[in-house]
Amino acid sequence: ANSKRSVLAPRSRTISAMANDEETLGSLKKQLAKLFEASLRVTVPTETDVEPLVAACTGNFGDYQCNNAMSLWPRIKGKGTEFRGPPAVGQALMKNIPQSEMIEKCSVAGPGFVNVVISKNWIAKSIQKMLTHGIGEWAPRLSIQRAVVDFSSPNIAKEMHVGHLRSTIIGDTLARMLEFSNVEVLRRNHVGDWGTQFGMLIEFLFEKFPNWEHASETAIGDLQAFYKASKQRFDEDPVFKERAQKAVVKLQGGEPKYRKAWTQICDISRSEFAKVYQRLGVTIEEKGESFYNPYIPGVLEKLSNLGLIEESQGARVIFLEGFNIPLIVVKSDGGYNYASTDLAAIWYRLNEEKAEWIIYVTDVGQSQHFEMVFKAAKRAGWLPADNNSYPRANHVGFGLVLGEDGKRFRTRNTEVVRLVDLLDEAKTRSKAALIERGKDKEWTEDELEQTAEAVGYGAVKYADLKNNRLTNYTFNFDQMLNDKGNTAVYLLYAHARICSIIRKSGKDMEELKKTAEISLDHPDERVLGLHLLQFAENVEEACTNLLPNVLCEYLYNLSENFTKFYSNCPVIGKPEEASRLLLCEATAVVMRQCFHLLGIVPVYKI
Ligand code: ARG
Repeated sequence: ANSKRSVLAPRSRTISAMANDEETLGSLKKQLAKLFEASLRVTVPTETDVEPLVAACTGNFGDYQCNNAMSLWPRIKGKGTEFRGPPAVGQALMKNIPQSEMIEKCSVAGPGFVNVVISKNWIAKSIQKMLTHGIGEWAPRLSIQRAVVDFSSPNIAKEMHVGHLRSTIIGDTLARMLEFSNVEVLRRNHVGDWGTQFGMLIEFLFEKFPNWEHASETAIGDLQAFYKASKQRFDEDPVFKERAQKAVVKLQGGEPKYRKAWTQICDISRSEFAKVYQRLGVTIEEKGESFYNPYIPGVLEKLSNLGLIEESQGARVIFLEGFNIPLIVVKSDGGYNYASTDLAAIWYRLNEEKAEWIIYVTDVGQSQHFEMVFKAAKRAGWLPADNNSYPRANHVGFGLVLGEDGKRFRTRNTEVVRLVDLLDEAKTRSKAALIERGKDKEWTEDELEQTAEAVGYGAVKYADLKNNRLTNYTFNFDQMLNDKGNTAVYLLYAHARICSIIRKSGKDMEELKKTAEISLDHPDERVLGLHLLQFAENVEEACTNLLPNVLCEYLYNLSENFTKFYSNCPVIGKPEEASRLLLCEATAVVMRQCFHLLGIVPVYKI
């Protein structure tokens, strides 16, 4: 009756069928944790609030392990417990697990670990369900509706550099993971478009182009060079310095000529940034520093009414416990700064945009700034004191990109590496590698271009994301474009090979999904199957802990497990062909979802 209904009825009405499906979908680890939670309640009813401790493991004893017995023991020991020691607690925990289709067998080992072997039929059934319902069934379930991801955020007139590349890549992935988890994400570009630097830049440009209003965009050209030159003038020439300072006042006072120049400068930078986003496939909405300007006075007044703001050496500041410097919110000259803007922004995001989670992606150098802003927001009562409840704010910090010399990444003649040059080179190199493999003769020019971009940009992204974001990493084209090892190139080729196996079989996958069944009799099939299922808990971990490298590691291991499966389990022309083709398809689906979450465009042939 169920299957008939799910065909006939619209999906939203098959709620009872969905509820049953829940059992075989979603995070394996969480579902096991639920079983152990039930067992804990029966085994040690006196100990409430015990979190089930379940982790995936490798080895001969099982797929997952629960180690509550050991940590429970000191809590119950000597309190008239019937148990003689942790192993006995483990035995009882095992015995009290509710009956479940998931579990094939359990055992207690060593000091009291409960080992669980997952049923291979259940694994097969879950994969089959994912293939029918789509990978969305394995998406994390978060308890929030809306998040802000504040990322990329370059500064006007200054070039986007590798630090902004990291922020763009990491922020985009985090946004994608949240979106996959059905969270509405407001992707925010907190562009540095306000501040005293505009005074000197505008003054310098007026001097350089007396006819500024009619100067073309190309004539203005390299804003970064003008920025540098204007800074030099500012430092060397006191007359210019004074003019620049007056220009800031005029600009902030809204004088039309200055406002217009500012808008033009921002537009020029903006179209440069847009080119980079377009190439990287990143969507983002600009709400720069200037956007929050009108909100600053009101927000500071709220903080002041709460008694949080004090006078100190002519400035207005917030003293925060645990920091040896105060957070300056109004400078001694009466101007606002980076912190005043961020206070207004966090207020706006929480109250106007109703974000439940705000994520800021910048280099670790800004950690203290964000810690202070968050702390001030907590003291104002905008955020709860406890870091893990919502609404919440997190700073996602990242380390430096290093050059071969171990120093901050620079190219020969420029101070900072221009992003566009990096992307150009990645593409050129991957194209050359494809031509070397003769692909220019096999493919159309378009195919060659698209693959070169997918592989080149994918390599740059993956080389960044695979590292724990807090560590520095060395930028190396040869390494990231290698087709062996833990690189995007290797992974993209692996995916393309799976697609070619499927194509060569000549089978209709949609048909197979309906008619064939997956069985996991060979040990390498079972390892691959279990790993596929673990996609759910890995994305969830990557997403909730804001660690894209967790997903990269998962993807790499998936590819390795597939290779092992494929070399030991022939597919085409074997009795197991249909089942194995479904495993190939499931692997390709999961790999593509990983690529998508990492902002990498998959390729289908190689
Ligand atoms: N524009 C800043 C920079 O380049 C990053 C801004 C980050 N976001 C924020 N809300 N402060 O360092």
